[in-house]
Amino acid sequence: MTLEEKAALVIGAGYGAPQTLLPGGTMIGNSGTKVPGTAGSTAAIARLGIPSIVLSDGPAGVRINPYRKGDSTRTYFATAFPVGTLLASSWDPALVERVGVAFGNEVKEYGIDIILAPGVNIHRNPLNGRNFEYYAEDPLLAGRMASAIINGIQANGVGTSIKHFVANNQESSRSTINTIVSERALRELYLKTFRIAIAASNPWTVMSSYNKLNGTYTAERHDLITTILRDEWKYTGFVVSDWGGGRDWVAEMQAGNDLIMPGNKAQIASLISAVGHDSLDVRILDANVARILHIVVKTPAFSGYKYSDRPDLKAHAAIAREAAAEGMVLLKNKDNTLPIQKTVKTIALFGNSSYFPIAVGTGSGEVNKAYVTSLTKGLRDAGYNPDAELEKTYVPFVKDTTAKLLAATPKGNRPGPSPELILDAGLISRKAAACDLAIITIGRNSGEGFDRKLETNYALITAEKEQIKKIADGFHAKGKKVVFVLNIAGVIDTEGWEKYADAVILAWQPGQEAGSAIADILSGKVNPSGKLPTTFPVRYADVSSAKNFPGTPSGIPEQVIYEEGIYVGYRYHDRFQVKPKYEFGYGLSYTSFSVEALKLSSMVLNGKLSMTVKVTNTGKVAGKEVVQLYVGAPVKSIDKPLQELRAFAKTQLLQPGASEVLTFELAAADLASYHSDSSSWITDAGVYAVNVGTSVQNIREKATFSIPKTLIIEKDHKILQPQVSILELGLRTKEDK
Ligand code: BGC
Repeated sequence: MTLEEKAALVIGAGYGAPQTLLPGGTMIGNSGTKVPGTAGSTAAIARLGIPSIVLSDGPAGVRINPYRKGDSTRTYFATAFPVGTLLASSWDPALVERVGVAFGNEVKEYGIDIILAPGVNIHRNPLNGRNFEYYAEDPLLAGRMASAIINGIQANGVGTSIKHFVANNQESSRSTINTIVSERALRELYLKTFRIAIAASNPWTVMSSYNKLNGTYTAERHDLITTILRDEWKYTGFVVSDWGGGRDWVAEMQAGNDLIMPGNKAQIASLISAVGHDSLDVRILDANVARILHIVVKTPAFSGYKYSDRPDLKAHAAIAREAAAEGMVLLKNKDNTLPIQKTVKTIALFGNSSYFPIAVGTGSGEVNKAYVTSLTKGLRDAGYNPDAELEKTYVPFVKDTTAKLLAATPKGNRPGPSPELILDAGLISRKAAACDLAIITIGRNSGEGFDRKLETNYALITAEKEQIKKIADGFHAKGKKVVFVLNIAGVIDTEGWEKYADAVILAWQPGQEAGSAIADILSGKVNPSGKLPTTFPVRYADVSSAKNFPGTPSGIPEQVIYEEGIYVGYRYHDRFQVKPKYEFGYGLSYTSFSVEALKLSSMVLNGKLSMTVKVTNTGKVAGKEVVQLYVGAPVKSIDKPLQELRAFAKTQLLQPGASEVLTFELAAADLASYHSDSSSWITDAGVYAVNVGTSVQNIREKATFSIPKTLIIEKDHKILQPQVSILELGLRTKEDK
């Protein structure tokens, strides 16, 4: 290859193509001529038979243009699958892998080579605008679910791009923020998710993130992209920058960030010149090129695959619906309010999102889907009778306000959500008299480029709260129940509505089959078995990163310090006794289960230990249970969480009275903590507590085992240190906490 060809290959072919600029100047990819609407592509070098490969967003489904110029005879819609947080709530890797298989088929049949998914950044703070794309607050759960979807997608012979590597946990100042975080928190939480996912699925590519990490852009960090990812973890695919990520193209090449996207001519010229002036060794460029080509030869583009442009959208919708219902979490169910009682026929549906559910979030995680099923349709199909007058009031209101908002929004900006329809009191009391049940859907969207606003997106606004109270009081006065459906992008405040709820279903953003899947849960066709992948705090101030989000100075933050260290989510609530509203791992069912007879293969862990537990459906309907295994390690030289998720398993559908024995395997390496002073993973000698339960708090069985000798599991490189000292939680004095 000539130098020009090499430089053209490592710089994306997106130059000259239109980019969507978000306010704040960051972009999401929107180029590509082969498949319109994709995020970008690489250069073709025809002389050498190197095809252009197509990269497309995003995590909830293929993001391409549904319509094409000069082609009015057909459409190119893609399936909107449930978002990452919902998939993680299923705690069912086998199911998520099946979603991946369907998703990957769409990738392939629409002519795409690499899908820019999954997003696996840890839920550090509920206000992160992209949390919906991401999986969980815990690296084991997030890592395992991510590997499941990657394996499913890649089984089709197309690639994935696990993103955003690493510590990209907010959207405020997303392309300039300096994330300051300790080596230990990085290793134990933020890097670990990627490590677990990569080890179990080998994604074709890894996407570096926009942020700086301890002072340097991730795309420019050799220690991150080469030393950790390739030398320590033995990763063999290529690394692609986020769109416009990093600033120094030569440094990116040197770091091992092989492909720079979306790419422009000036970047190609600068690499050619750098080689000419000896500031970039051509052997480095050769290595970048080689890693890209090793993937190119695996792509459908290289084998000349004749894609159909006609994936089986109907079959994929069925999987989207199944997965959506499996990941919904029943948060409350007073006096068996749900499933909907046989006597209920007419249902009063409140809330804009009952009629226009939010399928997925916005930005590159958005999908151009053919439809989103409303809750009205879902309930009607299930044999219920949603009140027609309310439908006639809500539907035109939302359509009208959405159109007005769109018209009033400056080009390039995103319109805000339609304001919640405020009904007159007379209508509410008439419905309370006439209908058998009230369902109130609370809708919250968010997306790329913005964090969620505490006052209006995380919390409910006053008018919403007042309306909820009116509806609840009206229905309760008539002896009727009120069910809440949370159609939300991330954790919200529970103040202001929870006390009015007889039952609550957390539906997250369930994809295009939203209404049908919610109706499956409401009707009892599907017994809820989802569990929280992330904690709901009592109040926002109880979030361990609340004081350090989104960083300083306020307004346009330049840096964010992760002072909470490893104490994110349940690790924090547990250790510092801050009671959550709904804890990690929590979720109810329409049946009940016993979890008993915990047995350990040995009382001493030498190499491996296996454990079994028996789960029995003790209730009246069939259901599935998720059993979570937490381990508390002995505290010797460093502070540790009280317990950490080390294994989990979900039962099959158990009929009433039926049992299943679940097996868990533990190795000494799974129990190690990262000691920054020696840069090593160490499993301390001592007694380990095994807590087996159905949430982090609802522990059903306990046992202990011991490790006779302290084990140094792995010695890593001393890298990625913060440039400033961080006063981390757990390292402070008691008073500071
Ligand atoms: C996002 C990525 C996305 C890329 C291409 C960026 O702005 O952060 O997640 O894959 O755009 O659209």
